[in-house]
Amino acid sequence: MNKIICIANQKGGVGKTTTAINLSASLAAAEKKTLLIDGDSQGNSTSGIGTDRNAFQAANLYHAMIGHVPLKDVIIHTAIPHLDVVPSNQDLIGIEFEFIGLEEKEKRLKNLLTSLDSHYDFIIIDCPPSLGMMTVNALAASDYLIVPLQCEYFAMEGLGYLLNTVKLVKAQLNPNLALGGILLTMFDQRNLLSHRVSDDVRKHFGDKVFKTVIPRNVRLSECPSHGLPIILYDIKSRGALAYMEMAREIIQGGL
Ligand SMILES: Nc1ncnc2c1ncn2[C@@H]1O[C@H](COP(=O)(O)OP(=O)(O)OP(=O)(O)O)[C@@H](O)[C@H]1O
Ligand SMILES: [Mg+2]
Repeated sequence: MNKIICIANQKGGVGKTTTAINLSASLAAAEKKTLLIDGDSQGNSTSGIGTDRNAFQAANLYHAMIGHVPLKDVIIHTAIPHLDVVPSNQDLIGIEFEFIGLEEKEKRLKNLLTSLDSHYDFIIIDCPPSLGMMTVNALAASDYLIVPLQCEYFAMEGLGYLLNTVKLVKAQLNPNLALGGILLTMFDQRNLLSHRVSDDVRKHFGDKVFKTVIPRNVRLSECPSHGLPIILYDIKSRGALAYMEMAREIIQGGL
């Protein structure tokens, strides 16, 4: 049985894509067969994992979501063993309005994943910074939600909306959905605020917070422009060690 994990937070720039790419690559490095689904029309996971733009223009997640092609036809192998990707680009904006009035519009992704005959240990879905149709589809398809929280002021702002959306999705679309964990990102050891945010989040959410904390690390911000996950860009960096540790926590913790 595969485990489907969506990485969501409607707040922008909190580390969703960085986590989706680097968690996927770290799971693949641990020889877990992994599929990274780029659920964001910004296409940052697609380019960040090094997918050739020309390879998916005609068929990508959007075309599978609207039913023009089977999902297996839009899966691309990456240069990383055990890691495949479902790419996206601005086409995906279409589903936010083209889906209005369609039947089971929130379950399109779930149905695509159910019909997938290839075997993956983990499916990781990168969500856009909104609680729109794509995020609802991702939540409806997932077993677990991981919420990256940036260790900055207002980190927990809007978290109530997200958790409420999860409650609604659980009640109406997907009773299986569980909070897999909250991930503290961009933690700056020397910044008092980082420590304060981290303490607050742990006080509120206790053991729902990953033990692994992702440090602010310039190597992590550099690697997407090279189309490489951090473990291929700089395996010795603190960012690489942190995402490998997170993957270990997920594999050993039984997520
Ligand atoms: N731990 C980190 N250390 C340093 N820079 C980081 C770290 N994590 C993410 N960044 C940088 O912060 C920016 C936002 O990160 P990212 O794109 O992962 O966030 P996001 O939540 O996916 O954003 P969006 O909401 O736009 O999809 C990027 O430039 C990224 O390279
Ligand atoms: Mg993103």
